Amino acid sequence: MAPKFSCCFLAVLFSISCEIITSLNETCTEKEANRTYNCENLGLHEIPGTLPNSTEFLEFGFNVLPTLQNTTFSRLIYLTFLDLTRCQINWIHEDTFQSHHQLSTLVLTGNPLVFMATTSLDGPQSLKHLFLIQTGISSLEFIPRHNLKDLESLYLGSNYIASIKLPEDFLTRNLKVLDFQNNAIHYLSRKDINSLKPSSNLSLNFKGNDIKGIEPGAFQSTVFQSLNFGGTRNLSVVLNGLQNSTIQSLWLGTFVDTEDEDVTLDMLQGLCEISVESIYLQKHHFYDLSPTTFQCFTRLQELDLTATHLKALPSGIEGMNLLKKLVLNGNSFDQLCQINAANFPSLTHLSIKGNRKKLHLGTGCLEKLEYLQKLDLSHDDIDATDCCNLQLKNLSRLQSLNLSFNEPLGLQSEAFKACPHLAFLDLAFTHLLVNAPQSPFKGLQLLQALNLSHCLLDTSNQYLLTGLPNLLHLNLEGNHFQDGSISMINPLQTVPNLESLVLSYCDLSSIHLQAFKGLGRIYRIDLSHNSLTSSSLEAFSDLKGLYLNLAANNIRIIPPHLLPILSQQNTINLSHNPLDCTCSNVYFLTWYQKNLHKVEDSEKTLCAKPPSLTGVKLSDVMLNCGITAVGIFFLILFLLLFAIVLILAIKFLLRWKYQHL
Ligand SMILES: *[C@@H]1O[C@H](CO)[C@@H](O)[C@H](O)[C@H]1NC(C)=O
Ligand SMILES: *[C@@H]1O[C@H](CO)[C@@H](O)[C@H](O)[C@H]1NC(C)=O
Ligand SMILES: *[C@@H]1O[C@H](CO)[C@@H](O)[C@H](O)[C@H]1NC(C)=O
Ligand SMILES: *[C@@H]1O[C@H](CO)[C@@H](O)[C@H](O)[C@H]1NC(C)=O
Ligand SMILES: *[C@@H]1O[C@H](CO)[C@@H](O)[C@H](O)[C@H]1NC(C)=O
Ligand SMILES: *[C@@H]1O[C@H](CO)[C@@H](O)[C@H](O)[C@H]1NC(C)=O
Ligand SMILES: *[C@@H]1O[C@H](CO)[C@@H](O)[C@H](O)[C@H]1NC(C)=O
Ligand SMILES: *[C@@H]1O[C@H](CO)[C@@H](O)[C@H](O)[C@H]1NC(C)=O
Ligand SMILES: *[C@@H]1O[C@H](CO)[C@@H](O)[C@H](O)[C@H]1NC(C)=O
Ligand SMILES: *[C@@H]1O[C@H](CO)[C@@H](O)[C@H](O)[C@H]1NC(C)=O
Ligand SMILES: *[C@@H]1O[C@H](CO)[C@@H](O)[C@H](O)[C@H]1NC(C)=O
Repeated sequence: MAPKFSCCFLAVLFSISCEIITSLNETCTEKEANRTYNCENLGLHEIPGTLPNSTEFLEFGFNVLPTLQNTTFSRLIYLTFLDLTRCQINWIHEDTFQSHHQLSTLVLTGNPLVFMATTSLDGPQSLKHLFLIQTGISSLEFIPRHNLKDLESLYLGSNYIASIKLPEDFLTRNLKVLDFQNNAIHYLSRKDINSLKPSSNLSLNFKGNDIKGIEPGAFQSTVFQSLNFGGTRNLSVVLNGLQNSTIQSLWLGTFVDTEDEDVTLDMLQGLCEISVESIYLQKHHFYDLSPTTFQCFTRLQELDLTATHLKALPSGIEGMNLLKKLVLNGNSFDQLCQINAANFPSLTHLSIKGNRKKLHLGTGCLEKLEYLQKLDLSHDDIDATDCCNLQLKNLSRLQSLNLSFNEPLGLQSEAFKACPHLAFLDLAFTHLLVNAPQSPFKGLQLLQALNLSHCLLDTSNQYLLTGLPNLLHLNLEGNHFQDGSISMINPLQTVPNLESLVLSYCDLSSIHLQAFKGLGRIYRIDLSHNSLTSSSLEAFSDLKGLYLNLAANNIRIIPPHLLPILSQQNTINLSHNPLDCTCSNVYFLTWYQKNLHKVEDSEKTLCAKPPSLTGVKLSDVMLNCGITAVGIFFLILFLLLFAIVLILAIKFLLRWKYQHL
């Protein structure tokens, strides 16, 4: 009987009672307590009672609210932002927003509106942004306009509007953005444009309206921040119509499916009469490109010729001295010299990314661009056995260079000596063949950010990063280290001022205790998507206040002696690790629940073990690994019984002993 009893007792004593607390299935997601809620796509027919009266920011799209009336939102009087995208709204009755004095943004996109009462938008003291995209509106008269005096942006895209003439009582003083894209506007009259006059510096969007005519002088002495005539078939209509206007940026791009005419010299004549700073001509074809094509471009500061089927730019273009920024992405140059860079001597920004052909860098093709600060040559299929000093000759002011997503580049030591002012260098996804025992980056005294992700680097070269005294941000994602381990001697030892370091997807399974020694200023390390276990945590014992991302590694149990290392950091991401939620990990689990404020992504930080807790959030696990009250009771009982048995046994023994004396 005694053995049976103690068995039972032991079971009680060491039983682990686990309790799972799961959160209530709330309909709406709380993004910020008492203020911000998302109730999208829940099939709701009314505002749920669970939303607090104090809600200010509400995303309520994709529900069912056929009519809005004064009772619909009457409780939520503090709303400032209300998104009602695709709620099947047909009717918006009188005084719907009468108590919503603070409402500033109202999104009604994608509702088939049949009726809006004249007072339906009354109430808000300063309604600033109104979205009426895809609401079936065919006339601006439909919009109740009593209370739009503070409106800053009005989005009317994808409707059936034919005339942009604003009603006289439509006050537009503060309007900054007026978006008419994809409507049925074909003609712009002087009266139409005059109705916009009260607002200056407007951004006006006519994209996807095939404008067929503009009354001469309609835009006379008007000033616009931006004008978008994207997709207009006949460019001369627009350019002649805009005479004597002042426009900061003019978007004239077209779309692949638009059957537009080739751009001729004649068509561009109108541009000489417009004062414009930036012009965008995406996807057009130029007919007979010659230096004279650019004769009306001389006042431009920015020119975007993305995907304009260019094989070369003519030499001898004159007068482009003001041009600061030139975008030639998505064209078909063979050689960098074909852009005839000498035409644009003041350029500070040049972008030639995504060239359709393999781009040969040539020698010194950009040497006349002595003011160039930013150069983007990404996605250009570039390869070079010895990059980049000859290719980038004379670019001594270059600050930012993007050579990412290219073919293999061979780098000797001091490969970027031609550009001593580089602060940002992006070589991501370009296979680098470092042919020197020394650093190819040596001499870049001012380099702050270096992206070497997926460069297939030889990381065993401990001098790889020497000579970069000001490097703050280093990305080594996707590079591999010998034996999946960062050893004590590694290239990181030579960049003492590093502040952020990315080592994700590096196939790491361990890190030497002293690997990060000397990184005294580091505050951000991303080691996600490796195979690290908790033993690698020791490498951080000298570092404090880190943002440490250890997501998607192989961390199961974190023993007590490593917990102080976690405690001394700022933020830790442990999501997607196979964490153990049994009593063997109780110290860590306790630490975790006490330090939830340090933990990022706790929604995705889940238990992998034991099977009964797989997939449960660590923050919800209640582990009881101590002795329970019942356990204590039985323990005392057991000790008592044990004492009695002992006393009896001694008594019996003594008696037996005396009897046999
Ligand atoms: C709980 O939420 C899920 C997904 O959000 C939903 O599918 C389910 O119907 C909800 N259950 C209840 C009772 O509301
Ligand atoms: C939210 O409102 C409740 C009740 O009004 C209040 O107790 C709580 O402190 C509020 N929370 C925040 C974060 O303001
Ligand atoms: C809503 O309007 C009806 C009549 O139009 C009125 O009787 C009622 O008092 C209004 N409700 C609120 C909350 O203002
Ligand atoms: C929320 O507002 C409604 C109507 O304005 C009111 O009846 C209710 O008491 C308010 N609830 C809270 C918690 O203040
Ligand atoms: C015009 O608007 C743009 C942004 O829309 C703003 O950056 C600029 O300062 C404004 N210019 C004037 C003169 O108001
Ligand atoms: C543009 O302005 C010039 C001079 O100010 C004037 O001669 C010309 O007629 C104007 N053009 C249009 C289309 O109004
Ligand atoms: C384009 O518009 C101009 C007038 O702005 C007109 O002379 C020309 O004929 C138009 N081209 C076509 C093909 O309609
Ligand atoms: C190189 O740049 C300097 C100014 O930095 C300029 O004077 C010189 O003309 C350029 N050299 C060539 C060959 O264009
Ligand atoms: C370099 O170009 C790539 C691809 O075009 C882009 O994703 C990346 O953000 C650019 N890098 C920088 C520093 O702008
Ligand atoms: C490389 O890193 C920089 C920041 O350090 C970033 O802006 C850039 O987008 C990255 N490049 C690519 C191709 O992701
Ligand atoms: C945690 O890290 C994972 C993997 O890098 C990332 O996807 C996730 O966004 C991070 N969490 C937060 C809140 O940034």
